[in-house]
Amino acid sequence: MRLLSGVQPSGKLHLGNYFGAMRQHIENQDRHECFIFIANYHALTTIQDAKLLRELTRDVALDYLALGLDPAKALLFRQSDVPEVCELAWILSTVTGKGLLERAVSYKDKTAKGLPASMGLFSYPILQAADILIYRSEAVPVGKDQVQHIEMTADMAGYFHNTYACDVFVMPKAMLNEAAIVPGVDGEKMSKSYGNTIDIFDEPGPAKKKIMGLKTDSTPVAEPKNPDTCNVFALLRLFASNEERAEWAARYRAGGMGYGDAKKRLAELYEERFGPARERRRKLAADAGYVEDVLAECGRRARAVAEGVMEDVRKACGIVTAG
Ligand code: ADP
Ligand code: TRP
Repeated sequence: MRLLSGVQPSGKLHLGNYFGAMRQHIENQDRHECFIFIANYHALTTIQDAKLLRELTRDVALDYLALGLDPAKALLFRQSDVPEVCELAWILSTVTGKGLLERAVSYKDKTAKGLPASMGLFSYPILQAADILIYRSEAVPVGKDQVQHIEMTADMAGYFHNTYACDVFVMPKAMLNEAAIVPGVDGEKMSKSYGNTIDIFDEPGPAKKKIMGLKTDSTPVAEPKNPDTCNVFALLRLFASNEERAEWAARYRAGGMGYGDAKKRLAELYEERFGPARERRRKLAADAGYVEDVLAECGRRARAVAEGVMEDVRKACGIVTAG
């Protein structure tokens, strides 16, 4: 099955991004044909600083490679290395009613948070649909917040098929992971816009400090505690094996355990999981050409797939190319 997912290079990646999205992307490389791209055109809706966007784009690539994405198994590329997505986005926009986009929850959320209501932000779901359809992706692993965009993608594919009596696209399905919302240090959803993140590549010192500062209730040490309502446990369970998870749940319920003990173990597990990746990242970052070579080569391969689909699209709607 062909899987595709995009990540916006809009800031440092955190545990919510890892457990909610990246981990699945990386695990899937052994089971499926995976296309992972860095959505730098989309990021222009929020990042309007050339140097910063270049850096963040490279950072996402380094993060994925350090965490185990293997370019021999999966394609990791920049959205902009396949500029045909913009052409397809335009074509899709001509068969899509404005009403569909007016129903997009993410546009309402983002403008409510104060982002300027640019045309790019408004038509964001059309570009996302083009990303998905241009590779005939069958499944799109995303978090719950993106499901509406995948449904809109199927709608747009349908509009094109109806308008031109053709069948050029594959209808994509959202692939949801079971990971619940990962809480941040204050217990709210971890998000870079809330400033409550624990980043994947934090240095051990600052990461431990954030973990020890996780918000908990004031149940005294001796008393039983409820793991199901505790932020520390919500994070611990993501890192721990099934046995260890059950052990900690039992310790919570038995009482006699302070939250500090669970936090210390969480800090250790964080380090076990991300310490080696941090080292790999450092080495990769020192090799100036490597990341660029991976992105460029994967981009070429992705573009070849996109070109084939675009030929069918152009033919279907009467856009004639030279030659
Ligand atoms: P942020 O909220 O920090 O801006 P994004 O919206 O860029 O994060 O999220 C990128 C991906 O990471 C999405 O697929 C989203 O579902 C996932 N994700 C982000 N935060 C969390 C979280 N706290 N819990 C689970 N998944 C998350
Ligand atoms: N909108 C997605 C997000 O904010 C990023 C994205 C862009 C994407 N194009 C995509 C995700 C195509 C999946 C498929 O997380």
